[in-house]
Amino acid sequence: MTETIQSSPRPKLGEWLTERLGLRGLAYNVPEHANSLPYTLGGITFMGFIILIITGIYLAQFYHPHPADAHDSVVYIITGAPLGDLVRSIHFWTAQIVTVTVLLHLLRVLFTGSYKRPREINWFVGLGLLAVTLGLAFTGSVLKFDQEGLEALQHNKEAAELIGGLGAWFSAEFSRTVPLLTRLFDGHTAVLPLIFALLVVVHFYLVKQHGISPKVTPEATTSATVGEGESHFNVHVRRMAGYGLLVFCLALSLSLLLPAPLGQPGVAGAEVTKPWWMFIWLFPAEATWGVRALVIVPVVLGLLLALVPILDRSPYLSPSRRKGLLVIAGVVLVIIVVSGIYATLQPVSAHLK
Ligand code: HEM
Repeated sequence: MTETIQSSPRPKLGEWLTERLGLRGLAYNVPEHANSLPYTLGGITFMGFIILIITGIYLAQFYHPHPADAHDSVVYIITGAPLGDLVRSIHFWTAQIVTVTVLLHLLRVLFTGSYKRPREINWFVGLGLLAVTLGLAFTGSVLKFDQEGLEALQHNKEAAELIGGLGAWFSAEFSRTVPLLTRLFDGHTAVLPLIFALLVVVHFYLVKQHGISPKVTPEATTSATVGEGESHFNVHVRRMAGYGLLVFCLALSLSLLLPAPLGQPGVAGAEVTKPWWMFIWLFPAEATWGVRALVIVPVVLGLLLALVPILDRSPYLSPSRRKGLLVIAGVVLVIIVVSGIYATLQPVSAHLK
Protein backbone atom coordinates (compact mmCIF):
# COMPACT_ATOMS: atom_id res chain seq x y z
CA MET A 1 0.00 0.00 0.00
CA THR A 2 1.45 3.35 -0.92
CA GLU A 3 1.20 6.19 1.61
CA THR A 4 0.32 9.63 0.32
CA ILE A 5 1.93 12.54 2.12
CA GLN A 6 -0.64 15.26 2.73
CA SER A 7 1.12 18.54 2.13
CA SER A 8 -0.53 21.34 4.12
CA PRO A 9 -1.33 24.49 2.11
CA ARG A 10 1.55 26.98 2.09
CA PRO A 11 0.93 29.51 4.93
CA LYS A 12 0.89 33.20 4.05
CA LEU A 13 3.99 35.19 5.07
CA GLY A 14 2.05 37.09 7.78
CA GLU A 15 0.83 33.86 9.38
CA TRP A 16 4.28 32.30 9.06
CA LEU A 17 5.90 35.24 10.87
CA THR A 18 3.13 35.41 13.49
CA GLU A 19 3.76 31.79 14.41
CA ARG A 20 7.57 31.96 14.29
CA LEU A 21 7.79 35.20 16.31
CA GLY A 22 5.07 34.18 18.78
CA LEU A 23 3.20 37.40 17.99
CA ARG A 24 -0.13 36.00 19.29
CA GLY A 25 1.37 36.53 22.75
CA LEU A 26 1.05 40.27 22.10
CA ALA A 27 -2.74 40.08 21.79
CA TYR A 28 -3.28 40.37 25.55
CA ASN A 29 -6.11 42.53 26.88
CA VAL A 30 -5.68 46.26 27.40
CA PRO A 31 -8.33 48.86 28.30
CA GLU A 32 -9.92 50.60 25.30
CA HIS A 33 -8.74 54.06 26.43
CA ALA A 34 -5.10 52.88 26.11
CA ASN A 35 -5.55 53.29 22.34
CA SER A 36 -6.59 56.97 22.50
CA LEU A 37 -4.09 59.63 21.39
CA PRO A 38 -3.29 60.98 24.89
CA TYR A 39 -2.46 57.45 26.09
CA THR A 40 -0.32 56.75 23.01
CA LEU A 41 1.99 59.79 23.36
CA GLY A 42 4.74 57.72 25.02
CA GLY A 43 4.55 55.22 22.16
CA ILE A 44 4.66 58.02 19.58
CA THR A 45 7.78 59.38 21.31
CA PHE A 46 9.34 55.92 21.06
CA MET A 47 8.57 55.68 17.34
CA GLY A 48 10.23 59.09 16.91
CA PHE A 49 13.34 57.73 18.63
CA ILE A 50 13.50 54.90 16.10
CA ILE A 51 13.52 57.49 13.27
CA LEU A 52 16.27 59.39 15.14
CA ILE A 53 18.42 56.28 15.51
CA ILE A 54 18.16 55.34 11.81
CA THR A 55 18.83 58.87 10.51
CA GLY A 56 21.52 59.41 13.17
CA ILE A 57 23.46 56.31 12.08
CA TYR A 58 23.45 57.64 8.51
CA LEU A 59 24.67 61.11 9.57
CA ALA A 60 27.47 59.57 11.67
CA GLN A 61 28.99 58.13 8.45
CA PHE A 62 29.86 61.67 7.29
CA TYR A 63 30.15 63.73 10.48
CA HIS A 64 33.66 64.43 11.74
CA PRO A 65 33.69 65.02 15.52
CA HIS A 66 36.78 67.20 15.71
CA PRO A 67 36.61 70.97 16.30
CA ALA A 68 38.74 71.66 13.19
CA ASP A 69 36.52 69.58 10.86
CA ALA A 70 33.07 69.36 12.44
CA HIS A 71 31.46 72.36 10.70
CA ASP A 72 32.97 71.46 7.32
CA SER A 73 31.68 67.91 7.65
CA VAL A 74 28.15 69.22 8.28
CA VAL A 75 28.49 71.41 5.17
CA TYR A 76 29.52 68.24 3.29
CA ILE A 77 26.46 66.37 4.66
CA ILE A 78 24.24 69.16 3.30
CA THR A 79 25.94 69.63 -0.07
CA GLY A 80 27.74 66.38 -0.91
CA ALA A 81 26.44 63.29 0.90
CA PRO A 82 23.65 61.41 -0.93
CA LEU A 83 20.32 62.74 0.45
CA GLY A 84 22.41 64.21 3.30
CA ASP A 85 20.45 67.46 3.59
CA LEU A 86 17.13 65.59 3.69
CA VAL A 87 18.30 62.98 6.24
CA ARG A 88 19.84 65.69 8.43
CA SER A 89 16.62 67.72 8.27
CA ILE A 90 14.46 64.69 9.14
CA HIS A 91 16.77 64.05 12.12
CA PHE A 92 16.48 67.71 13.17
CA TRP A 93 12.68 67.91 12.84
CA THR A 94 12.06 64.53 14.47
CA ALA A 95 14.14 65.72 17.44
CA GLN A 96 11.85 68.76 17.76
CA ILE A 97 8.70 66.62 17.43
CA VAL A 98 9.93 64.05 19.96
CA THR A 99 10.68 66.80 22.49
CA VAL A 100 7.11 68.07 22.07
CA THR A 101 5.55 64.59 22.39
CA VAL A 102 7.60 63.63 25.46
CA LEU A 103 6.52 66.86 27.19
CA LEU A 104 2.87 66.23 26.21
CA HIS A 105 3.25 62.64 27.51
CA LEU A 106 4.51 63.99 30.84
CA LEU A 107 1.60 66.44 31.03
CA ARG A 108 -0.90 63.66 30.24
CA VAL A 109 0.55 61.44 32.98
CA LEU A 110 0.45 64.39 35.39
CA PHE A 111 -3.13 65.36 34.44
CA THR A 112 -4.53 61.81 34.69
CA GLY A 113 -2.70 61.03 37.97
CA SER A 114 -0.99 58.08 36.29
CA TYR A 115 2.10 58.47 38.52
CA LYS A 116 0.17 57.16 41.53
CA ARG A 117 0.65 53.81 43.22
CA PRO A 118 1.87 51.40 41.83
CA ARG A 119 3.40 53.58 39.06
CA GLU A 120 5.61 55.92 41.14
CA ILE A 121 8.89 54.30 40.07
CA ASN A 122 7.88 54.56 36.42
CA TRP A 123 7.40 58.29 36.95
CA PHE A 124 11.01 58.54 38.19
CA VAL A 125 12.24 56.42 35.25
CA GLY A 126 10.27 58.78 32.97
CA LEU A 127 12.06 61.78 34.50
CA GLY A 128 15.34 60.06 33.62
CA LEU A 129 14.09 59.62 30.05
CA LEU A 130 13.17 63.30 29.91
CA ALA A 131 16.68 64.27 31.08
CA VAL A 132 18.19 62.01 28.41
CA THR A 133 15.92 63.49 25.72
CA LEU A 134 16.98 67.03 26.65
CA GLY A 135 20.62 65.90 26.87
CA LEU A 136 20.39 64.50 23.34
CA ALA A 137 18.82 67.74 22.07
CA PHE A 138 21.55 69.80 23.75
CA THR A 139 24.51 67.73 22.54
CA GLY A 140 22.95 67.56 19.07
CA SER A 141 22.68 71.35 18.90
CA VAL A 142 26.39 71.65 19.82
CA LEU A 143 27.68 69.07 17.28
CA LYS A 144 27.05 71.22 14.20
CA PHE A 145 29.63 73.61 15.68
CA ASP A 146 28.23 76.76 14.14
CA GLN A 147 27.86 79.97 16.16
CA GLU A 148 24.75 78.63 17.93
CA GLY A 149 26.47 75.36 18.83
CA LEU A 150 29.61 77.06 20.07
CA GLU A 151 27.65 79.44 22.30
CA ALA A 152 25.61 76.55 23.73
CA LEU A 153 28.85 74.77 24.55
CA GLN A 154 30.33 77.91 26.07
CA HIS A 155 27.29 78.33 28.33
CA ASN A 156 27.52 74.72 29.30
CA LYS A 157 31.21 74.97 30.20
CA GLU A 158 30.53 77.96 32.46
CA ALA A 159 27.55 76.28 34.12
CA ALA A 160 29.67 73.13 34.65
CA GLU A 161 32.47 75.17 36.26
CA LEU A 162 29.98 76.31 38.90
CA ILE A 163 29.30 72.77 40.07
CA GLY A 164 33.03 72.02 40.38
CA GLY A 165 34.03 68.34 40.28
CA LEU A 166 30.59 67.24 39.06
CA GLY A 167 30.92 69.38 35.94
CA ALA A 168 34.57 68.45 35.25
CA TRP A 169 33.62 66.23 32.31
CA PHE A 170 32.54 69.34 30.41
CA SER A 171 35.92 71.06 30.74
CA ALA A 172 38.50 70.94 27.96
CA GLU A 173 41.11 69.93 30.60
CA PHE A 174 39.26 66.71 31.49
CA SER A 175 41.05 64.87 28.71
CA ARG A 176 44.38 65.89 27.21
CA THR A 177 43.94 63.70 24.17
CA VAL A 178 40.26 63.96 23.20
CA PRO A 179 38.58 67.37 22.57
CA LEU A 180 35.35 68.20 24.40
CA LEU A 181 33.42 68.24 21.09
CA THR A 182 34.51 64.65 20.41
CA ARG A 183 33.44 63.60 23.90
CA LEU A 184 30.07 65.29 23.39
CA PHE A 185 29.74 63.30 20.16
CA ASP A 186 30.39 60.13 22.20
CA GLY A 187 27.72 61.32 24.62
CA HIS A 188 25.24 61.97 21.79
CA THR A 189 25.83 58.74 19.89
CA ALA A 190 26.81 56.20 22.58
CA VAL A 191 26.40 57.18 26.23
CA LEU A 192 22.96 58.87 26.10
CA PRO A 193 21.43 56.32 23.65
CA LEU A 194 22.67 53.51 25.91
CA ILE A 195 21.12 55.13 29.00
CA PHE A 196 17.97 55.73 26.94
CA ALA A 197 17.81 52.06 25.94
CA LEU A 198 18.25 50.86 29.53
CA LEU A 199 15.64 53.27 30.89
CA VAL A 200 13.13 52.58 28.14
CA VAL A 201 13.36 48.81 28.75
CA VAL A 202 12.58 49.39 32.46
CA HIS A 203 9.83 51.90 31.53
CA PHE A 204 8.10 49.44 29.18
CA TYR A 205 8.56 46.55 31.61
CA LEU A 206 6.77 48.54 34.31
CA VAL A 207 3.95 49.61 31.95
CA LYS A 208 3.50 45.92 31.07
CA GLN A 209 3.54 44.82 34.72
CA HIS A 210 1.01 47.42 35.93
CA GLY A 211 -1.10 47.87 32.81
CA ILE A 212 -2.11 51.36 31.72
CA SER A 213 -3.62 53.53 34.48
CA PRO A 214 -7.43 53.26 34.76
CA LYS A 215 -9.75 55.53 32.81
CA VAL A 216 -10.27 58.83 34.62
CA THR A 217 -13.79 59.24 36.06
CA PRO A 218 -14.86 61.30 39.10
CA GLU A 219 -14.69 58.20 41.32
CA ALA A 220 -11.78 56.33 39.65
CA THR A 221 -8.93 55.31 41.93
CA THR A 222 -5.47 54.19 40.96
CA SER A 223 -4.86 50.46 40.48
CA ALA A 224 -3.05 47.95 38.30
CA THR A 225 -5.09 47.07 35.19
CA VAL A 226 -2.92 44.27 33.89
CA GLY A 227 -4.97 41.59 32.09
CA GLU A 228 -8.08 43.83 32.08
CA GLY A 229 -9.81 45.54 29.16
CA GLU A 230 -11.80 45.01 26.01
CA SER A 231 -9.08 45.90 23.51
CA HIS A 232 -5.80 44.13 22.73
CA PHE A 233 -2.18 45.20 22.86
CA ASN A 234 -1.54 44.33 19.20
CA VAL A 235 -4.22 46.91 18.28
CA HIS A 236 -2.31 49.42 20.40
CA VAL A 237 1.00 48.57 18.69
CA ARG A 238 -0.61 49.00 15.24
CA ARG A 239 -1.94 52.39 16.28
CA MET A 240 1.51 53.37 17.62
CA ALA A 241 3.11 52.35 14.31
CA GLY A 242 0.48 54.39 12.42
CA TYR A 243 1.24 57.47 14.49
CA GLY A 244 4.95 56.77 13.98
CA LEU A 245 4.36 56.94 10.23
CA LEU A 246 2.56 60.26 10.71
CA VAL A 247 5.55 61.59 12.70
CA PHE A 248 7.81 60.57 9.81
CA CYS A 249 5.52 62.27 7.26
CA LEU A 250 5.40 65.43 9.37
CA ALA A 251 9.21 65.48 9.76
CA LEU A 252 9.59 64.83 6.01
CA SER A 253 7.18 67.64 5.07
CA LEU A 254 8.87 70.08 7.44
CA SER A 255 12.28 69.02 6.07
CA LEU A 256 11.20 69.75 2.50
CA LEU A 257 9.71 73.11 3.47
CA LEU A 258 12.33 74.23 6.00
CA PRO A 259 15.63 72.32 5.83
CA ALA A 260 17.56 72.14 9.11
CA PRO A 261 19.53 75.36 9.60
CA LEU A 262 23.32 75.69 9.82
CA GLY A 263 25.02 78.95 10.80
CA GLN A 264 28.53 80.20 10.09
CA PRO A 265 31.46 78.53 11.91
CA GLY A 266 31.48 79.66 15.54
CA VAL A 267 33.54 82.62 16.76
CA ALA A 268 34.61 82.02 20.37
CA GLY A 269 33.47 84.71 22.81
CA ALA A 270 30.73 86.18 20.58
CA GLU A 271 27.10 86.01 21.80
CA VAL A 272 24.74 86.61 18.92
CA THR A 273 22.38 83.59 18.96
CA LYS A 274 19.65 82.22 21.19
CA PRO A 275 19.24 78.64 22.37
CA TRP A 276 16.68 76.20 20.96
CA TRP A 277 13.07 76.60 22.14
CA MET A 278 13.34 73.83 24.76
CA PHE A 279 16.09 75.79 26.55
CA ILE A 280 15.20 79.40 25.71
CA TRP A 281 12.79 79.77 28.67
CA LEU A 282 15.90 79.75 30.90
CA PHE A 283 17.16 82.95 29.25
CA PRO A 284 15.34 85.49 31.52
CA ALA A 285 16.48 83.58 34.64
CA GLU A 286 20.05 83.65 33.30
CA ALA A 287 19.80 87.39 32.60
CA THR A 288 18.66 87.96 36.21
CA TRP A 289 20.82 85.51 38.20
CA GLY A 290 23.68 84.78 35.81
CA VAL A 291 24.89 81.44 34.45
CA ARG A 292 24.19 79.73 37.81
CA ALA A 293 20.48 79.88 36.88
CA LEU A 294 21.21 77.28 34.17
CA VAL A 295 22.07 74.83 36.93
CA ILE A 296 19.72 75.89 39.72
CA VAL A 297 16.45 76.28 37.79
CA PRO A 298 16.50 72.86 36.04
CA VAL A 299 17.58 71.13 39.27
CA VAL A 300 14.76 72.78 41.26
CA LEU A 301 12.24 71.93 38.54
CA GLY A 302 13.47 68.32 38.40
CA LEU A 303 13.17 68.01 42.19
CA LEU A 304 9.64 69.47 42.12
CA LEU A 305 8.66 66.90 39.48
CA ALA A 306 10.27 64.11 41.52
CA LEU A 307 8.21 65.19 44.54
CA VAL A 308 4.87 64.79 42.68
CA PRO A 309 4.17 61.11 43.52
CA ILE A 310 5.63 61.55 46.99
CA LEU A 311 3.35 64.45 47.91
CA ASP A 312 0.19 63.46 46.03
CA ARG A 313 -0.65 60.11 47.62
CA SER A 314 -4.48 60.19 47.52
CA PRO A 315 -5.83 57.31 45.38
CA TYR A 316 -8.06 59.52 43.19
CA LEU A 317 -7.26 60.12 39.53
CA SER A 318 -9.81 62.80 38.68
CA PRO A 319 -8.24 66.27 38.14
CA SER A 320 -11.15 67.79 40.10
CA ARG A 321 -9.92 65.90 43.19
CA ARG A 322 -6.30 67.05 42.68
CA LYS A 323 -6.86 70.76 42.11
CA GLY A 324 -4.03 71.98 44.39
CA LEU A 325 -1.31 70.06 42.56
CA LEU A 326 -2.66 70.86 39.11
CA VAL A 327 -2.95 74.59 39.89
CA ILE A 328 0.72 74.65 41.02
CA ALA A 329 1.74 72.68 37.89
CA GLY A 330 -0.31 75.08 35.73
CA VAL A 331 1.36 78.14 37.29
CA VAL A 332 4.85 76.66 36.73
CA LEU A 333 3.92 75.82 33.14
CA VAL A 334 2.62 79.35 32.48
CA ILE A 335 5.84 80.85 33.93
CA ILE A 336 7.93 78.61 31.62
CA VAL A 337 5.85 79.44 28.53
CA VAL A 338 5.77 83.20 29.27
CA SER A 339 9.56 83.21 29.94
CA GLY A 340 10.08 81.39 26.63
CA ILE A 341 7.93 83.87 24.67
CA TYR A 342 9.55 86.84 26.41
CA ALA A 343 13.07 85.50 25.68
CA THR A 344 12.15 84.83 22.03
CA LEU A 345 11.02 88.43 21.58
CA GLN A 346 13.99 90.01 23.41
CA PRO A 347 17.22 91.01 21.62
CA VAL A 348 20.21 88.75 22.36
CA SER A 349 22.11 89.80 25.46
CA ALA A 350 25.55 88.71 26.58
CA HIS A 351 25.82 86.46 29.64
CA LEU A 352 29.20 84.84 29.27
CA LYS A 353 32.31 85.86 31.23
C1 HEM B 1 11.61 59.28 25.77
C2 HEM B 1 10.79 59.34 26.72
C3 HEM B 1 9.61 58.42 27.01
C4 HEM B 1 9.12 57.33 26.34
C5 HEM B 1 9.64 56.73 25.03
C6 HEM B 1 7.98 56.84 27.10
C7 HEM B 1 7.18 55.77 26.73
C8 HEM B 1 6.03 55.39 27.39
C9 HEM B 1 5.03 54.48 26.88
C10 HEM B 1 5.07 53.78 25.53
C11 HEM B 1 4.06 54.37 27.83
C12 HEM B 1 2.72 53.62 27.67
C13 HEM B 1 1.60 54.68 27.51
C14 HEM B 1 1.80 55.65 26.39
O1 HEM B 1 2.19 55.24 25.29
O2 HEM B 1 1.58 56.86 26.62
C15 HEM B 1 4.45 55.16 28.95
C16 HEM B 1 3.77 55.25 30.14
C17 HEM B 1 4.18 55.99 31.24
N1 HEM B 1 5.18 56.93 31.24
FE1 HEM B 1 6.47 57.27 29.74
N2 HEM B 1 7.84 57.61 28.23
C18 HEM B 1 8.79 58.59 28.21
C19 HEM B 1 8.94 59.60 29.12
C20 HEM B 1 8.20 59.73 30.28
C21 HEM B 1 8.25 60.86 31.18
C22 HEM B 1 9.06 62.11 30.96
C23 HEM B 1 7.41 60.56 32.24
C24 HEM B 1 7.13 61.39 33.46
C25 HEM B 1 8.00 61.95 34.20
C26 HEM B 1 6.86 59.26 32.00
C27 HEM B 1 6.03 58.56 32.87
C28 HEM B 1 5.23 57.50 32.50
C29 HEM B 1 4.27 56.85 33.37
C30 HEM B 1 4.02 57.13 34.85
C31 HEM B 1 3.60 55.89 32.57
C32 HEM B 1 2.43 55.00 32.98
C33 HEM B 1 1.20 55.79 32.50
C34 HEM B 1 -0.11 55.09 32.66
O3 HEM B 1 -0.14 53.95 33.11
O4 HEM B 1 -1.11 55.74 32.32
N3 HEM B 1 7.31 58.80 30.78
N4 HEM B 1 5.65 55.79 28.65
